[in-house]
Amino acid sequence: ATTLGASAAESGRYFGAAVSNQYLSEAAYANTLAAEFNSVVAENSMKWDATEPNPGQFNFSGGDQLVNWAQARGMKVRGHTLVWHAQQPGWVQNLTGQNLRNAMLNHIAGVANHYEGDVFAWDVVNEAFEWDGSRRQSNLQQQLGNGWIEEAFRAADAADPTARLCYNDYGTDAINAKSTAIYNMVRDFKSRGVPIDCVGFQTHIAANENLSSYQANLQRFADLGVDVEITELDVGQGSGQAATYETVTRACMAVARCTGITVWGVTDKYSWRDDNPLLFDGNYQKKAAYHTVLAAL
Ligand code: XIL
Repeated sequence: ATTLGASAAESGRYFGAAVSNQYLSEAAYANTLAAEFNSVVAENSMKWDATEPNPGQFNFSGGDQLVNWAQARGMKVRGHTLVWHAQQPGWVQNLTGQNLRNAMLNHIAGVANHYEGDVFAWDVVNEAFEWDGSRRQSNLQQQLGNGWIEEAFRAADAADPTARLCYNDYGTDAINAKSTAIYNMVRDFKSRGVPIDCVGFQTHIAANENLSSYQANLQRFADLGVDVEITELDVGQGSGQAATYETVTRACMAVARCTGITVWGVTDKYSWRDDNPLLFDGNYQKKAAYHTVLAAL
């Protein structure tokens, strides 16, 4: 096939991009997105600050706009993210104890219930671990204790029994202390019947990233009985950019339970990074990395 989405679909996978609604009115952006990708994720508009700016008052306008745009074009939608230490609305940051717990559970119920049937997977919890494998000392961790991640997954399962429920993080591109801590959590969840279906590997990396254990790491998670997804892929500019993209793509293709890849943006023009890390340049031209990815799918 001649596009990323169609090539991924040949093996039952998806190839997606993170999207900011404000760019959908730019013809080159919208045309590239619709032509090349078969999945989208909201870059910001489904996060807690966007969806619940005041306690119990939900605002789904941005997320709904993206869902409608994608569905009109036959594209799938990933959900990102229900609970995260960053991009919380101000009112959440001041909560303690049971009030924070109730806010988290109510948020998950409200958002996951609203998008039931529209998103195929949720990043239920994002970035809860540190590099050394310890828990990040967020307000959630400090106020709610170790059980908060399990509580979040159980609440998401109750609100939307059909979406696949993922844990998502960065710095997990090798077999290392951080990925092993997450691995141990997933193994524990599976052994106790805590609802978790997938692990997202953000894969925000550099052109010279050491990916020697990348595929083996994906595979060890898959062997626990969860799907794995590349959820936020971008690779800094440099001579190894195209080869690094190829390595990540080949790793996903080699792991049967790697269900798809999402790049964190369409064009270098609008990346959250300043090192031109995406597959299309600022003029929407296909980069070398685009061609290595397409060939590897
Ligand atoms: C980033 C967005 O790209 C930016 O627009 C925003 O200002 C900050 O968040 N890990 C994640 C994403 O899970 O949600 C982050 O997205 C990038 C890092």
